[in-house]
Amino acid sequence: MDVVRQLLVVLHIVGIGALLGGFLTQMKGMKTGDVRITPAVTHGALTMFVTGLALVAVRKSSALDLPVDNAKIGTKMAVLVVILLLAWANRGKDKVDTRVFGAIGLLTIANIAIAVMWT
Ligand code: HEM
Repeated sequence: MDVVRQLLVVLHIVGIGALLGGFLTQMKGMKTGDVRITPAVTHGALTMFVTGLALVAVRKSSALDLPVDNAKIGTKMAVLVVILLLAWANRGKDKVDTRVFGAIGLLTIANIAIAVMWT
């Protein structure tokens, strides 16, 4: 079962790569307001959501019975839901409000900081 958890962590990291990479590769357009929500951002955010929930389930399963920090996971989940809603509402638009786009990037980095620094 631990190999399942490890594979889910790998996918979780792939999801961060897609979400953050999708933001960083568009960032230079922020000067001109020429930014879009690419599929990397929406798919990355969805991957985080699905793998995050699966990680909680696998950690709590009787086979592993590992602890889950509900406050930390709840906070990451709340931040991710905001990212998902912003990304979903603005996908497909030719020009996205740079404040919305910037918020997606900042919230993603905030979630990485929460994941790593909240111990
Ligand atoms: C943008 C959103 C997210 C980011 C950037 C993120 C980032 C990370 C990172 C860097 C780790 C590895 C470090 C650690 O073990 O703490 C991790 C682990 C984990 N994340 Fe997330 N996460 C996000 C969303 C979520 C969500 C929404 C959930 C749950 C619903 C979740 C559940 C977990 C769990 C359970 C682990 C522990 C994995 C393990 O070692 O067994 N994450 N996350």
